[in-house]
Amino acid sequence: MLFKQQALLRQKLFVLGSLAIGSLLYLVARVGSLDRLQPLCPIDGRFGPHGQDEIPLRALQFKRGLLHEFRKGNATKEQIRLHNLVQQLPKAIIIGVRKGGTRALLEMLNLHPAVVKASQEIHFFDNDENYAKGIEWYRKKMPFSYPHQITIEKSPAYFITEEVPERIYKMNSSIKLLIIVREPTTRAISDYTQVLEGKERKNKTYYKFEKLAIDPNTCEVNTKYKAVRTSIYTKHLERWLKYFPIEQFHIVDGDRLITEPLPELQLVEKFLNLPPRISQYNLYFNATRGFYCLRFNIVFNKCLAGSKGRIHPEVDTSVITKLRKFFHPFNQKFYQITGRTFNWP
Ligand code: A3P
Repeated sequence: MLFKQQALLRQKLFVLGSLAIGSLLYLVARVGSLDRLQPLCPIDGRFGPHGQDEIPLRALQFKRGLLHEFRKGNATKEQIRLHNLVQQLPKAIIIGVRKGGTRALLEMLNLHPAVVKASQEIHFFDNDENYAKGIEWYRKKMPFSYPHQITIEKSPAYFITEEVPERIYKMNSSIKLLIIVREPTTRAISDYTQVLEGKERKNKTYYKFEKLAIDPNTCEVNTKYKAVRTSIYTKHLERWLKYFPIEQFHIVDGDRLITEPLPELQLVEKFLNLPPRISQYNLYFNATRGFYCLRFNIVFNKCLAGSKGRIHPEVDTSVITKLRKFFHPFNQKFYQITGRTFNWP
């Protein structure tokens, strides 16, 4: 009987203990993510009235809850006004390049407490139908943020779409533009791999990369192939330079973002005039994924989706050599224009 009672007591203690630990972990996670919403230091002189220490935890949790409600569209105008939350046009846009690491860059920048990402690719400037809906439509697609924060969106199609530079210029001629690039041949193969996966999923037929990248009649590089054209970075950049000076662009090394993300992110912080807030703590290498993942606090961390970091198919070395030779002069021009040199072959 006594033994039974003791066992029951032990069971109760175990349940209570688990509940206490669970609540504690939950609280730590909440506090960590709430920190992100608060101003840490001035940016561009646009700084809110509250220092982080001024706001008690309960108020922060309340605000976090409100942000969620706002996203669902349940908040009243009065609530939005009271809590000073706004949907702001982006101060910076990741305009490309597709498969350069645009998602990783956006997610990593979002670790910064003064940055709020638009989660979806909005495709406002490259899609005529969306563009016709007007700038207010675009603004309403932006996440809620505090006025001292900056909003960033990424739509890699912007980089290669003819009409986009003029349209962005009309919205904000002093906007900051981020371009993340990878070694052009690797990027083209990555591009191919993404399309290939889509075709395989739909049971569609597909060609080998070699067949698409090399024109069978001339045995030269097929410049009509989109994956090849997108990797001629300088051609696209030249179109943008008709509207924006080079100082408004920052080039991110997408290959280095994979192997050593922090220094690349620190360069972006500088370019955006943000105080350095992303640290090595926020990034950890996940051996299973083979990539760096994001750490927001001791409980909440995440890796990018499995669609990022696909295994590329083997490509004939002679095709790789041909492509590298083809891209070489364009790369030289790109280094010259941007002032950033890469070790691309
Ligand atoms: P691969 O799938 O070819 O490896 P985008 O987001 O522009 O589509 O770019 C996808 C690429 O981001 C991936 O290409 C991957 O190599 C790269 N990348 C960079 N950092 C990453 C990270 N931390 N996790 C996963 N992928 C990352």
